[in-house]
Amino acid sequence: MTTTGKQLAAYAQRTEEYMLQKVAQMQADSQPMDIGVLFDAMRHSLTAGGKRIRPALVYAFCEACGGTLPQADAAACAMEMTHTSSLIFDDLPAMDDDDLRRGKPSCHKAFGEATAILAGDALICAPFAVIASDPVLTPEQKTALVQTLAVYEGTGGMVGGQQMDMQFETQENVTAAELETMCLGKTGALMAASCRMGCLCAGASEAQLTAAAEYGRLVGLAFQIIDDILDVTSSDETLGKPVGSDAAQGKRTFVTLLGLEEAKRRAADLTAQAHTQLDAFSDTAFLHALTDALLVRVQ
Ligand code: IPE
Ligand code: IPE
Ligand code: MG
Ligand code: MG
Ligand code: MG
Repeated sequence: MTTTGKQLAAYAQRTEEYMLQKVAQMQADSQPMDIGVLFDAMRHSLTAGGKRIRPALVYAFCEACGGTLPQADAAACAMEMTHTSSLIFDDLPAMDDDDLRRGKPSCHKAFGEATAILAGDALICAPFAVIASDPVLTPEQKTALVQTLAVYEGTGGMVGGQQMDMQFETQENVTAAELETMCLGKTGALMAASCRMGCLCAGASEAQLTAAAEYGRLVGLAFQIIDDILDVTSSDETLGKPVGSDAAQGKRTFVTLLGLEEAKRRAADLTAQAHTQLDAFSDTAFLHALTDALLVRVQ
């Protein structure tokens, strides 16, 4: 395994252990309610084996601003839980109607729609409690983290982007600019939040917060372009989710709008721009390598 791969795996393991500890605590706190199936559904989706890119960005930006891993634990956990909730909802029949996620049956396939919706709900609320109850962050840091998460996750970010994505299925003409706005919302926003929140955990400067969020937007947009490309070039086995899903749902993607070759060029261009934002940080070897790895990813 490469140094970057090892670092990513270490961040991923730390995230998974921390998340499971929080879910176990939530389950204990929910007594005497008999709702074990809800926690099974949450664990099903959380541990199905995602790439854990967002928590890695939280940890890496915290470290690149001179912070420590314990300072970033709550935010890293919050971002992966938030992201996982968005995937549970994204797969529902009313949205993308996909039966496979992270190589396992989607949450609604394994547990039914009602429990999947509630598991998604639970994974939206949990991050705010995880951040608010963190033992090492200051009250000011917690407020900034909660505010950032809510704004980037909400109507001006991920939720807004997902709404545009659904509207585009029946909208006649979708321009390249509209498609970019949609993808910056549905995917760029949680990436940008992850980078910015990592910096907040370390008490970074305003200039670093701005550069990190811009890096996240650029990498997030490139990430969605690659996601669109893999939907037409990969296989279910490799991706762990159904390929051809976009065409089946009549999605507007970078591939339908630009074609494969132009989409690849655009992703490479965005990746090059993302690298330049890292000048605001020190010890960026991992972040530079991750940026490149995301462009050539096959999963
Ligand atoms: C999938 O995200 C949804 C998009 C924003 C394209 P990831 O590709 O990061 O999914 P996991 O977390 O690795 O499963
Ligand atoms: C998903 O975009 C973005 C979010 C889940 C917020 P996609 O619908 O393309 O993601 P996949 O391909 O199902 O992972
Ligand atoms: Mg979708
Ligand atoms: Mg989808
Ligand atoms: Mg996709």
